[in-house]
Amino acid sequence: MTALRLGSLEVPTPVVLAPMAGITNAAYRRLCAEHGAGLYVCEMITSRGLVEGDENTKRMLVFDDAEQLRSVQLYGTDPTYVGQATKILCEEYGVAHVDLNFGCPVPKVTRKGGGGALPWKRNLLGRILEEAVAAAAPYDVPVTMKTRKGLDDDHLTYLDAGRIAQEAGCAAIALHGRTVAQAYSGTADWDAIAALVAHVDIPVLGNGDIWEAADAVRMVEQTGAAGVVVGRGCLGRPWLFRDLAAAFGPEGVGSTTLPTLGEVTAMMRRHAELLCEHMGEERGCKEFRKHVSWYLKGFRAGGELRRSLGLVDSLAALDELLAGLDPDEPFPVSELGAPRGRQGAPRHKVVLPEGWLDDTDGLGEGACGVLEDVDETTGG
Ligand SMILES: Cc1cc2nc3c(=O)[nH]c(=O)nc-3n(C[C@H](O)[C@H](O)[C@H](O)COP(=O)(O)O)c2cc1C
Repeated sequence: MTALRLGSLEVPTPVVLAPMAGITNAAYRRLCAEHGAGLYVCEMITSRGLVEGDENTKRMLVFDDAEQLRSVQLYGTDPTYVGQATKILCEEYGVAHVDLNFGCPVPKVTRKGGGGALPWKRNLLGRILEEAVAAAAPYDVPVTMKTRKGLDDDHLTYLDAGRIAQEAGCAAIALHGRTVAQAYSGTADWDAIAALVAHVDIPVLGNGDIWEAADAVRMVEQTGAAGVVVGRGCLGRPWLFRDLAAAFGPEGVGSTTLPTLGEVTAMMRRHAELLCEHMGEERGCKEFRKHVSWYLKGFRAGGELRRSLGLVDSLAALDELLAGLDPDEPFPVSELGAPRGRQGAPRHKVVLPEGWLDDTDGLGEGACGVLEDVDETTGG
């Protein structure tokens, strides 16, 4: 498999850790990187928050010492803020890659015309991308965008978005094969990824429903995507990146890592430790709690122990609890290939600003204002 090329940046393994708000912080990125190879994107931060020096935003923008390629996803709806934020990322944070979020389905975000709602406004999208590309160009930093198929099946935007991204000078476009209305329900439409590959000349990164390394290879074969973006499949399974690296390497698909519960326990300990290193023990342990059920999914670990792990408040307490798990319990193979993380139900209606669908411009006279919040942290 060929490397992924984003402008002048070469990622030897064409695998990207999907930005996930509240998940892909420095600790988790490092944990994943310890297992595999690829590009590991920071959780989303807001352009305005960065420009205005918001404390929360700055707290999210930390990198591990071992992180060689700094990659950050920006959220933004205002071309000026996005341009300024991109410049700050390049100049002050030394990032090697900037991704822009145009896929978030959260009502709080789409209600303001952000995330997955924004590509409906074609000219505004183009202007935002142009600003980011222009700001990153002096630093030779590639800019990519990540989006969904559209608002719903009657309002698809991804082919236009691909063309606009290409014209704006983006180095690639990542497509999650669902609409905003679908949120995380149903299955990702890989045919749309193939259609986008056929429609544009820039690399397309395929995203959606990669649960095992074999799925990633199958996606690339079926769609012609230049690489894959993996989200929920690696929740509680950072070792998936080892299988992905192997699958895209000379070994090819075949080696599925099946850690025993003892090995998973060691991974949990490492994850918690890295979180504590970056955030301090109290916050680190709190952050770790949300990962417990993903790590233990399918294992026999009893309800009481799971509940206690879900309330863990120190590394010492974590060690004590983990010692209560049977290290020899084999990996529950029934979990292989099974969806994990958010799924939820489709939305009946995508919440949009008043009159949003009336024009596809977003810049001209009468355009709806797009408000940008400082601390939009709900993600994609
Ligand atoms: C908890 C969570 C947070 C997410 N946050 C973001 C985000 O901040 N930015 C973004 O572009 N996508 C975000 N996503 C979407 C993922 O990047 C990805 O597109 C989606 O999960 C589909 O890929 P998957 O099937 O591999 O999970 C998030 C997804 C989850 C589950």
